[in-house]
Amino acid sequence: MENIKNSDLKPIGSKLLSWYRINARDLPFRQTKDPYKIWICEIVFQQTRINQGLNHYNNFIARFPDVKTLAEADENEVLLYWKGLGYYSRAINVHKASQQIMNDYHGIFPHEYEEILKLKGVGKYTAAAVSSICFNGKIPAVDGNFYRVLSRIFADDFDISNSRAFNYFSELAHLILPDNVGDFNQAMMDLGSEICKPKNPLCGECPLNNDCLAFSLNKVSEFPVKAKKTKAKDLELKYYFVHRNGQFLIQQRKDDFIWKKLFEFVPEISDKLVAFIVGVKTVSHKLTHKNLSIEIYNVEVDSEEIWQSFIAENNFIITNVMDSHERSFPKPLENYIQNYDAAYRIL
Ligand code: ADE
Repeated sequence: MENIKNSDLKPIGSKLLSWYRINARDLPFRQTKDPYKIWICEIVFQQTRINQGLNHYNNFIARFPDVKTLAEADENEVLLYWKGLGYYSRAINVHKASQQIMNDYHGIFPHEYEEILKLKGVGKYTAAAVSSICFNGKIPAVDGNFYRVLSRIFADDFDISNSRAFNYFSELAHLILPDNVGDFNQAMMDLGSEICKPKNPLCGECPLNNDCLAFSLNKVSEFPVKAKKTKAKDLELKYYFVHRNGQFLIQQRKDDFIWKKLFEFVPEISDKLVAFIVGVKTVSHKLTHKNLSIEIYNVEVDSEEIWQSFIAENNFIITNVMDSHERSFPKPLENYIQNYDAAYRIL
C-alpha cells in the first residue's frame, strides 16, 4: 500500500476532473461563484440530501439573497425559512455569521480560508469548500465522501471514527489533488453520492475503477472502516398541551441542549390544571445522538377562571393553530398541533 502512495497519483485527480466536466450534476448553486450562496448551500446540503433540500435552499436565497438582507432579518424569520431542514442551530449560526461579515468585514465575504473559518458555525469542510469553489483556494473539502472514496482507492483501513481521521484523509487527498481544487471538491461530492455510494456502489461506471485498490481486490464493501458506533442516548420529555377554545400556550426555548430557540408547549403545570388532563400521547423521535420519548398531555381547560389565572401566573405565549404556522416548532410538536387542528375542525 505504501508503494502506491509513493507513485505519482495526480492522474487520478485529473481523471476525476475529466469525468466531472461531463457528468457534473446540474445544481442551481453550480451557476454561481457568489461566496454567500455557496456558503449557504454548503451548510444546507451538509445535513440534507440535495433532492430534499433544494426547495428550501431556493426559498432561503429568494428571501435572503445576500449577506446584508440576512444580517438585517429577524432571527425568528430566519428560523422559519429553515423549517423542515432540522439542525436549527445552523440557522442561528448563519444569521450570526452574516452579522459578523457586516461588522468585521464591511459586508464583504472573506476570501481567505483562515478568515472564513472564523465565521460562526463554519468548520474546516465548509471553509475549504467556499475558499476552493469561490476563491481558488487549494484545500480539499474533506467529508464523509472523501473518507469513503479515498479509503476505497487505497484500500486503506484507517478507522474513520478516529479523531485523527480528518487529518489523515486530508493528507491522502493531497496526493491526488489537481490544480482546480474547487471542481475537484465538487467532483468528489458527486462521485461519492452518485457512484461511490455507501451501499451498492456503481463500480462499473466509476471513472477511477482502474485506480481503485479495493475494487481490484474485490473488497469495496469492506471500506471505509468504522470501529466505534456512537450510541444514541435515550431521553424522556414531558409536555402539556394546555388549550382552551382553539388557543394554546407555548414558550420559546432558551437552552441550547436541543431545539434551541424553537417554540415548545408548557413543560410543567400547576396542580389546578391536573384535573383537566383528558389524555396523553407518547411519541418517539430520533435526533442524531438522542432517542426521544415524548409524553404529551392533553390539558383541555374547561374553566375560564382557571385558564385566566394560569395565564396570569405564567409567562406563556397564547397562540392558535393559524399563528403556529408562523413559528418553528420541533417536528414532533408540529405534528401534534396538526393532528389537534384536524380534530378541532371536526368538532
Ligand atoms: N453537497 C454539499 N455541497 C455540495 C456541492 N457543492 N455539490 C454537490 N453536493 C454538495
